[in-house]
Amino acid sequence: MADLDDLREGNNFGLGIASGEQPFHVKGASHLLWGMKDRLSRIFNPSTGRTVMLAFDHGFIMGPTSGLERIDLTIVPLIEYADCLMCTRGILQSLIPPSTNKPICLRADAGTSILTELNDNVLIDVEDAIRLNVSAMAIMLSIGDPSYEAKTVANLYRAVDLGSRYGIPVMGVTAVGKQMARDARYFGLASRICAENGANIVKTYYCEGFDKVVAACPVPVVIAGGKKLPEKEALELCYQAINDGASGVDMGRNVFQSVAPAAMIQAIHGVVHDGLTPDQGYELFNDLA
Ligand code: R5P
Repeated sequence: MADLDDLREGNNFGLGIASGEQPFHVKGASHLLWGMKDRLSRIFNPSTGRTVMLAFDHGFIMGPTSGLERIDLTIVPLIEYADCLMCTRGILQSLIPPSTNKPICLRADAGTSILTELNDNVLIDVEDAIRLNVSAMAIMLSIGDPSYEAKTVANLYRAVDLGSRYGIPVMGVTAVGKQMARDARYFGLASRICAENGANIVKTYYCEGFDKVVAACPVPVVIAGGKKLPEKEALELCYQAINDGASGVDMGRNVFQSVAPAAMIQAIHGVVHDGLTPDQGYELFNDLA
């Protein structure tokens, strides 16, 4: 019990001043509980409502692809510029310093490699995600794939059940198969299915008509970068996505395969958070590079 000596009566009740409760800055998250909101706030900057996530989970399918051969040399120096890190538990535990204090979006399903088709992904044990203190779990959905659609939707559903229990948000990642059209109708469908099944964040690809994909998705949408583009084009992609309502990016190859990765991620940050145009972003890239 606190010392009762000199116990002072409260006398500063702010009478007449409205309560300082704030509207929440993440789309579709106003009704979530505190732990969930705290984790989302670590990912989405409360000042802008946006995020620059650095994705380097590619190795779980692709192995040591270009730019990710030595994560200690190529990715660790970029951590300071990212709002959130997206990776697998193996890389997190072996190569990412726990002192970075950046939120982690953990790749939380596995079971596929580039040598086979998309297949029966399984989920991580949520206790491991808790032990790793992650801020979100990322689960892939293979919408339109007759063999694996149901399995991957079930994975998302299960991850949301487990994540909700412990206050961990789930990001639905829309896969792109060889047979699937890459248009607003497809990405709109896949994104909406992620959200309907409880995803708190959706990661998808930019396409023409992206504003409709975002409008119809009740939670924040972030874009993957896809294949490596010339830096100016990648910044235009970010700009268009933000302009169409995206809440940020979760980019990999267009950062770590850039000729100047640290300059690139800072330029992307400028476009996402500071309202830079693609020209201004490219100028910043060149200055920093
Ligand atoms: C998605 O499932 C992958 O694991 C990557 O995280 C994603 O494709 C983002 O990386 P990139 O910008 O290189 O496409």
